Amino acid sequence: MIRIAPSILSADFSRLGQEIATVEAAGADQIHVDVMDGHFVPNLTIGPPVIKWIRKTTHLPLDVHLMIEDPDRSLADYREAGADALTVHVEACPHLHRTLQRIRELGARAGVALNPATSISSLECILDDVDLILVMSVNPGFGGQRFIESSYQKLRELTQLLGPRRVERSVDGGVKVENCRALAEAGATTLVVGSAIFEASDPAGVIRHMRTRLRDLS
Ligand code: DX5
Ligand code: ZN
Repeated sequence: MIRIAPSILSADFSRLGQEIATVEAAGADQIHVDVMDGHFVPNLTIGPPVIKWIRKTTHLPLDVHLMIEDPDRSLADYREAGADALTVHVEACPHLHRTLQRIRELGARAGVALNPATSISSLECILDDVDLILVMSVNPGFGGQRFIESSYQKLRELTQLLGPRRVERSVDGGVKVENCRALAEAGATTLVVGSAIFEASDPAGVIRHMRTRLRDLS
């Protein structure tokens, strides 16, 4: 089944608990948490203390997307705060293999994200060391940006490269009801959705609508 991961970046942070409860009740599969440090990306969001509180508000897995420099320094803090999956950027990790090993040692699922300008060939040597690959379909840093069309091809190439490996393939940025089915057909197994859900007047309705579009896809 294709998983839907609402990205809380576009949620109303003054009522974050309710926003998460709404998408959980609507059948979201996991919560996508965007961590930005103002260096790796030109925006700043939240860190472990807030994630610790988010952990208390939901039973859903927390999929933590680290858009930060030198993530190795703080992996343990994010895991301790309640992250179930930790995704680092290949562009921020000179020792990616070691970083992924460290994430697994901490008991979390190990993820790698690729910026739009980064080729999937950068992952060839770590395919057996990763649980999740996240294809950025916008340049990271902000919600509500326009989807980059070449991401379809990247997802197809990634699916081919992975072969029989059971690795979650996530797409993040510009995902909407209109393109969700095509993305799943191109190989995405998880759809990260920010503004399309949280800026809608009926977030639960958007999730239901996506499910209808994704029906019969595995
Ligand atoms: C962007 C973040 C995304 C963001 C997606 O850097 O990684 O998770 O929330 O937002 P939308 O779905 O609005 O493009
Ligand atoms: Zn993200």
